[in-house]
Amino acid sequence: MQMNNVDLNGLVLKNPVTVASGTFGFGREFSDFYDLSLLGAISVKGLTLKPREGNPVPRLAETPMGMINSVGLQNPGVEAFIRDEIPFLRTFDTKIIANINGNTLEEYVEMAKILDKEDVDSIEVNISCPNVKSGGMAFGTDPLMASKVTSAVRNVTSKHIIVKLSPNVTDIRTIAKAAEVSGANCLSMINTITGMAFDLKTRRPIIANRIGGLSGPAVKPVGVRMVYETASVVGIPIIGMGGIMNAEDAFEYILAGASAIAVGTGNLVNPMCAPQVLEGLKKYLPAEV
Ligand SMILES: Cc1cc2nc3c(=O)[nH]c(=O)nc-3n(C[C@H](O)[C@H](O)[C@H](O)COP(=O)(O)O)c2cc1C
Repeated sequence: MQMNNVDLNGLVLKNPVTVASGTFGFGREFSDFYDLSLLGAISVKGLTLKPREGNPVPRLAETPMGMINSVGLQNPGVEAFIRDEIPFLRTFDTKIIANINGNTLEEYVEMAKILDKEDVDSIEVNISCPNVKSGGMAFGTDPLMASKVTSAVRNVTSKHIIVKLSPNVTDIRTIAKAAEVSGANCLSMINTITGMAFDLKTRRPIIANRIGGLSGPAVKPVGVRMVYETASVVGIPIIGMGGIMNAEDAFEYILAGASAIAVGTGNLVNPMCAPQVLEGLKKYLPAEV
């Protein structure tokens, strides 16, 4: 592992620090805090074919060492992303990862076809969203479905493809292998772990959707374990994420086998988290090898 020119099997990042989908919007709010050109890549908010309102509120609950969310992929849709957000992101020297989500296999294919012609550097196929009624995580918890969606996307684009894996499985290695043999260039993991929290006063779940996805420091040991297990069975690179709040957390993922890392919930706690992780990692990684 090195600090500069990190090659994720065809997608070369200037450094291994990226930001996780859904925790960074399209970068606009963070560009007030620092120069986004510092980042290796930005994975944008999960996109869908049509704009989505997302789930009813409350959608967030704080938990010990983490949070539960059920945002439900609120986003302006892929066409608005192409029109309004790519030009903004291109003003920075960083790689653009388009995170795509579908209710059906056809929707993933349609989005990949559209983005194939657009100025994005990679397509991240999110088969692990726990917060939508159909599709989403269903694709990421069954090796056959994971394989079908990956190869369907592979067939319609020559872009670099990242498949984003769900931790809500018995054996992540089988899903990771299925994605690899079906044409994924890279894997990203982990998405959130399904969780729930009750309000003792109302005696009701805090989140309107009742169940959401747990993220933050609480999930880091699970993420590190899953990266470790997966790295031992696949030949493609892994972007590690889940609870990275500082350079030491990031380095732990790298020791487990990740080639790059993503800061997620850390961005919500401290908007400077990603550049601070980058600065701190210099202590652990050589500039070039
Ligand atoms: C508020 C919120 C929204 C998220 N939205 C998405 C999304 O749209 N697409 C996706 O692939 N992952 C999404 N995620 C998952 C994160 O990208 C990441 O995989 C997960 O939160 C674990 O990393 P962390 O513990 O550093 O947050 C979201 C996470 C949070 C907290």
